[in-house]
Amino acid sequence: MKLEAGQVAVVTGAASGIGLGLAGAFAARGMPVVLSDLRADEVRASAARVADEHGVATLAMTTDVRDPESVEALAQATVDRFGRVDVICNNAGVMGPQGPSWELDPAVFRWLVDVALLGVVHGVRSFVPRMIEAGRGHVLNTASMAGLMPLPGITPYGAAKHGVVGFTESLRAELAMHAPSVGATVLCPGYVPSDIGVSSRQVNPADVPLAPLDAAATAGLPQEDLTMEDVTSQALAAIEADRAHAIVYRGGGYEAGIRARVQGVLDDLVN
Ligand SMILES: NC(=O)c1ccc[n+]([C@@H]2O[C@H](COP(=O)([O-])OP(=O)(O)OC[C@H]3O[C@@H](n4cnc5c(N)ncnc54)[C@H](O)[C@@H]3O)[C@@H](O)[C@H]2O)c1
Repeated sequence: MKLEAGQVAVVTGAASGIGLGLAGAFAARGMPVVLSDLRADEVRASAARVADEHGVATLAMTTDVRDPESVEALAQATVDRFGRVDVICNNAGVMGPQGPSWELDPAVFRWLVDVALLGVVHGVRSFVPRMIEAGRGHVLNTASMAGLMPLPGITPYGAAKHGVVGFTESLRAELAMHAPSVGATVLCPGYVPSDIGVSSRQVNPADVPLAPLDAAATAGLPQEDLTMEDVTSQALAAIEADRAHAIVYRGGGYEAGIRARVQGVLDDLVN
């Protein structure tokens, strides 16, 4: 779908990081943007900044993507305010405690799946019917490189992100059958510096305590850092090309990891 001035984008998890970057990238195209996040003050400030910087209308919404009614209210508020919705970015995410999967509490898995996977599902359930009715639209779901290859130590995160990849690929197939004017893309970035460690400590549920932020938490990832511009420009290009995956990385480490995983699946295709 070609992105044009006047179309309307909605981004969850838009108070900071990739979500805020996406909001700015749509606004730079002259598109009004709805920025939504669980962190109310932060998302209000970010929406005001995007409006100031790009001269487009923005709307800030406090949304909990774990709650289908909250996401439905986001969709309705978008249509009430702007009369249309063209792009939904289901982007909210959190980073939980790390360690071998058998040592992590089930509450950690529940939180990650609730936010990162069911948050995407709720976004699709509320926005896609409106897009089908309008005869146009695109869904961008944020997964991660952790959804395309194993990353030991963050299995709840990886499991949820693999879920987002699989969900989006199947969603695309369903849309191709039932509503070909609506597209879907899964965004899989490598590591881009963000405050996910900080924001996760502001929104973690009581049954998922998080130790103080350890600056070394991202050490060992097999890649150079991306810039926000790398992520947002490739995400928007993938929407316009209606590609299934926007896989954004630098250098060879992640590519080798993905190739090894896919080759491992192919090697095991025996019957
Ligand atoms: N930063 C990276 O290296 C990286 C790489 C790959 C994928 N991602 C994914 O990108 C997305 C954005 O992460 P980021 O790195 O920009 O971090 P971020 O912390 O800046 O953004 C995540 C946002 O989600 C919000 N959020 C958390 N729980 C929520 C809930 N229940 N409802 C609504 N909003 C909620 C947070 O308040 C935060 O603003 C996440 O899905 C993350 O998993 C990040």
